[in-house]
Amino acid sequence: MSPRFGSAAASETPAGQPGGAHAAGPRAATDRPVDGQPVLQVEDLTVAFPTEDGVVRAVRGMTYSVAPREVLGIVGESGSGKSVSSMAVMGLLPRSAQISGRIVFRGEDVLSMSPRQQRGLRGRRVSMIFQDPMTAMNPVYTVGDQLAEAVRSHSAVPQKVALKRAKEMLDLVGIPQAEARLRAYPHEFSGGMRQRAMIAMAIINDPDVIIADEPTTALDVTVQAQVLDTLMSVKDAVDAAIVFITHDLGVIAQVADRVLVMYAGKPVEIGTTAEVFTKPLMPYTAGLLGSTPSAEGSRAGERLRPISGAPPSLISLPPGCPFGPRCPLAREDCRASEPELRHRPAPGTTLPVVSRDHLAACHHSDELLAAEDPTRFFRAESEVTP
Ligand SMILES: Nc1ncnc2c1ncn2[C@@H]1O[C@H](COP(=O)(O)OP(=O)(O)OP(=O)(O)O)[C@@H](O)[C@H]1O
Ligand code: SF4
Ligand SMILES: [Mg+2]
Repeated sequence: MSPRFGSAAASETPAGQPGGAHAAGPRAATDRPVDGQPVLQVEDLTVAFPTEDGVVRAVRGMTYSVAPREVLGIVGESGSGKSVSSMAVMGLLPRSAQISGRIVFRGEDVLSMSPRQQRGLRGRRVSMIFQDPMTAMNPVYTVGDQLAEAVRSHSAVPQKVALKRAKEMLDLVGIPQAEARLRAYPHEFSGGMRQRAMIAMAIINDPDVIIADEPTTALDVTVQAQVLDTLMSVKDAVDAAIVFITHDLGVIAQVADRVLVMYAGKPVEIGTTAEVFTKPLMPYTAGLLGSTPSAEGSRAGERLRPISGAPPSLISLPPGCPFGPRCPLAREDCRASEPELRHRPAPGTTLPVVSRDHLAACHHSDELLAAEDPTRFFRAESEVTP
């Protein structure tokens, strides 16, 4: 199977903006993208919300690690638990949330830290960029004051010093006339500029990890590419790792070293972006790849192959594999037990070798591995009878 997203979204870096290293094409993925101890580890994280209708099991065992400077993409349909798992890492979930598992930052267990220690970590060593900056920024304070406050909440420096740092950050993210822009309010910025200001806010304390939750989804395609480019450039400038959440596989192809695919609150596949995109081992991943337009696919006249049906209710999951009711490979054993996320070694020499770090949760991964194009297990739009 050829990579479907080799020429994902074109990216133009306007004059005066930093970097541009990613404008030319997709990021090269390697087997082990970055050496070194993980900067962030999430281990068997579960999050449940008791509601009147029952308990919503939003995250049911999320495990991943992020190496220094690595970009981990998290992808999955709406409601799969991408944001809730990240909000748990940031300590931003409502009180009603029942959380278990471990969140380890540079070897320290975050959930067992005091609230003060957690505050010291979050926003400084781990920061977050949200989809909609208007909800993350306060409309009644200037952008400069908000950036300065982000500095002063973690270090006792005078306002003047914090504002100087704020201006440097606005410069770094490519906001022209940064000095004057410090005095503007968020609503006076365009959508792209606001998202750049959010990026400035996320990097102002020189974090080790940035969690970016759909940071470009609300922007139009051209601005999206520019903001993405800015994010990847400043990431290199501050030497941070990124957990990049999106539903857009084209964006993942551009930015991520590794990708984690989520379904019904759980990771169902994880591996290097190159391997997951070319050798998906879980039908849901293959379905996502087949249902996403790609520049190469459209050139070849390929038809989209959507995944039919809808994700399950997180209050009452189906027995066995939660993807079963939508899976073209499903059979009896799939209803009997939910597959674990683990390495799926090729049993015979005829199947391609799967790297040790490529894990999947499917009883029948070998069938995908043996297929020339696993997306073809799903029917093309024109083959679906109305
Ligand atoms: N406070 C809450 N109370 C009850 N259920 C919640 C709460 N917050 C989130 N959920 C549920 O948890 C599940 C996961 O939500 P989450 O926001 O993580 O999805 P997502 O993968 O980020 O989706 P999207 O792509 O739409 O952003 C959803 O079913 C959602 O309705
Ligand atoms: S375990 Fe069965 S139902 Fe689940 S993804 Fe694999 S083949 Fe499909
Ligand atoms: Mg979300």
